[in-house]
Amino acid sequence: MAVKVVVVGAGAVGATVAYTLLTADLANELVLIDINRDRAEGEAMDIADGTPFTGPVRIYAGDYEDCRDALIVIFAAGANQRPGETRLELAARNVKVVRDVMDRLLRYWNGGVLLMVTNPVDVLTYAALRFSGLPENAVIGSGTVLDSARFRYLLSRHCRVDGRNVHAYVLGEHGDSEVFVWSRAAIAGIHVDDFCDRRGVPRPDRQDLSERVRRAAAEIIARKGATYYGVSLSVRRICEAVVRDQESVLTVSGLVDGYYGVTDTAFSLPTIVGRRGRVKVLDIPLAPEEQQALCYSAGILKQAQRDNGL
Ligand code: LAC
Repeated sequence: MAVKVVVVGAGAVGATVAYTLLTADLANELVLIDINRDRAEGEAMDIADGTPFTGPVRIYAGDYEDCRDALIVIFAAGANQRPGETRLELAARNVKVVRDVMDRLLRYWNGGVLLMVTNPVDVLTYAALRFSGLPENAVIGSGTVLDSARFRYLLSRHCRVDGRNVHAYVLGEHGDSEVFVWSRAAIAGIHVDDFCDRRGVPRPDRQDLSERVRRAAAEIIARKGATYYGVSLSVRRICEAVVRDQESVLTVSGLVDGYYGVTDTAFSLPTIVGRRGRVKVLDIPLAPEEQQALCYSAGILKQAQRDNGL
């Protein structure tokens, strides 16, 4: 079955996403759209050179007319964080870009899954839902999929175990108010603390490890100017769940209305993801302090929505 994926924004993230999707054999057709046509063409040409090693994929610089029949449209356009800038400080600039792109996209796109990646991803996911009028399940954001991966990675290093065996979630805002669900962090079906006792390693310093995840992007940006590999692999994982209808549990961002007392805000909760996008949101049991932190995170995002006229 033909699978077309469109990437809007051929910057470092968008181009790396396209490359990563190609190496994962997830699409037959990849369209790169960018306001800078040369940039989109150059990235498409560069990636296309490798397709004899990955399989027959059409990859080209296109326009919004080329979005017809796309299974997934990935939004990676707009400004990204400068050193010292928070993700929320990008909102005013990037909400405008979302509105403009939605106007153009929906003239030609007959629907599928809209995957928001640009920051502040939760606010932009909410904006895209409002501007596009697409069904709630069809508009998701990369959210804290990357943060959960960072959490799992650091736990895997600390516990000396394969990261694929670590189940741990970061919920809420993909940003400074994100929530680490330590109460549910588990390896081999046992709580991470119990696992450490059995593994003969000290229990993790929750404050330190959480802070290392929270600051990961800032530390990377301070050193190399941007992040794009981790987020692109996160996007690839989400696209894999959609394209292959895997019904995978991923902490994607999406409209939350009624869970944990949170209403009319987009942020990340454990979500079953399949071909239609969001299949089901899971309101997992949280420790009281985690639920309180999640409501605080929702409040931060709600204020950002209001500040940006959403
Ligand atoms: C990061 C960007 C994607 O966390 O927000 O690396």
